[in-house]
Amino acid sequence: MNNSLKLLLVSGARPNFMKIAPVIHAIRAHNAACNGGRTISFRLVHTGQHYDEKMSGVFFQELGLPAPDYNLEVGSASHAAQTANIMLAFEPVCLHEKPDWVVVVGDVNSTAACALVAAKLGIAVAHIEAGLRSFDRAMPEELNRLVTDALADLLLTPSADADDNLCREGVSGAKIRRVGNVMIDSLMGQLPQATAANTLERMGLENGRFVYVTLHRPSNVDIRENLAVIVRELTTLSVQWPIIFPIHPRTRRRMAEFGLSFDAHPGVRPLEPLGYLDSLNLTRNARFLLTDSGGLQEESTYFRTPCLTLRPNTERPVTITVGSNRLTSVATLRDDITKLLAEPERLGATPPLWDGRTAARIVAELLAE
Ligand code: UD1
Repeated sequence: MNNSLKLLLVSGARPNFMKIAPVIHAIRAHNAACNGGRTISFRLVHTGQHYDEKMSGVFFQELGLPAPDYNLEVGSASHAAQTANIMLAFEPVCLHEKPDWVVVVGDVNSTAACALVAAKLGIAVAHIEAGLRSFDRAMPEELNRLVTDALADLLLTPSADADDNLCREGVSGAKIRRVGNVMIDSLMGQLPQATAANTLERMGLENGRFVYVTLHRPSNVDIRENLAVIVRELTTLSVQWPIIFPIHPRTRRRMAEFGLSFDAHPGVRPLEPLGYLDSLNLTRNARFLLTDSGGLQEESTYFRTPCLTLRPNTERPVTITVGSNRLTSVATLRDDITKLLAEPERLGATPPLWDGRTAARIVAELLAE
């Protein structure tokens, strides 16, 4: 009898890769050290929700991820079509592999689609980064979180607020395990490689003397008036502060559509999307970040780099309570930047369980089930 625990690990979009990589490394470490105990086998599924080299391939290489066993190659489409395409392609994989668990991470369309397929086939679902809530159902990610957590059999949470959210929704405490922030495992593991990547030197930047900007949420970039104000504020800021702005494909398309550009403003550097190591270095060394990303709110908090989050809410409140992150809006952006620049260059503290050991705790929980 093969006593191995079999997992199907799902990743689909850029923010998933740094959450699934530490789990794979922890599985390998467990198997190497288990001395005749129960081993873990896994298959890695890439749904293909993100498919460009700069949105996907570079992360596999930098994070030491193995080539996926399955690439479902679903690509971009409307939410309904993309979700449905993922489900159609993922079902035969589940039927063929018959895993003990389907493991999903984060809150993208791939997360909810694969959780639903597995649950309907009676396969146990584990959700890594369970319980986060922005309480904003206009965000597609919030709907994905609600669906995934309602279906999951094991809810692996990063923080106490996540446990509270799940309990409030009636999830049994017996299914909840607070394991910590798995993305910080990737960050801590890749710091030596990031340092060796010499990003600042290559980009001709001075430590603490530039601003790192990323924006891709529909609420910021799909609305012409909002994007126009953001572009105007960035060009104003760039007279004093060099701005590094790797532009997400969604944002690039919208800027072209709305006739917006930074062409006459050399202080803003619009770049292609960056790899993980360059992004870590910019986050670590920027004067501050302006972002609407979930991951960058956390990575900046780890480095204690001040962060302005251009959103009315965040599903990661711990980044605010420790003091490194604050919310801003298109209307208050200029004032909020002025206030931030008058404050210390490093803010906040490291939240609990951001210790680089989360994936090992996840593996232990799966084995204990
Ligand atoms: C998705 C996630 C979001 C996450 C973000 C990170 C959902 C609902 N949203 O949003 O939570 O923060 O990824 O990037 O799952 N495109 C490319 N190349 C790619 C991928 C996309 O050019 O590799 C373009 C396509 O034109 C596509 C658009 O970007 O239509 C948006 O991509 P999509 O995956 O639909 O959503 P994101 O905005 O990336």
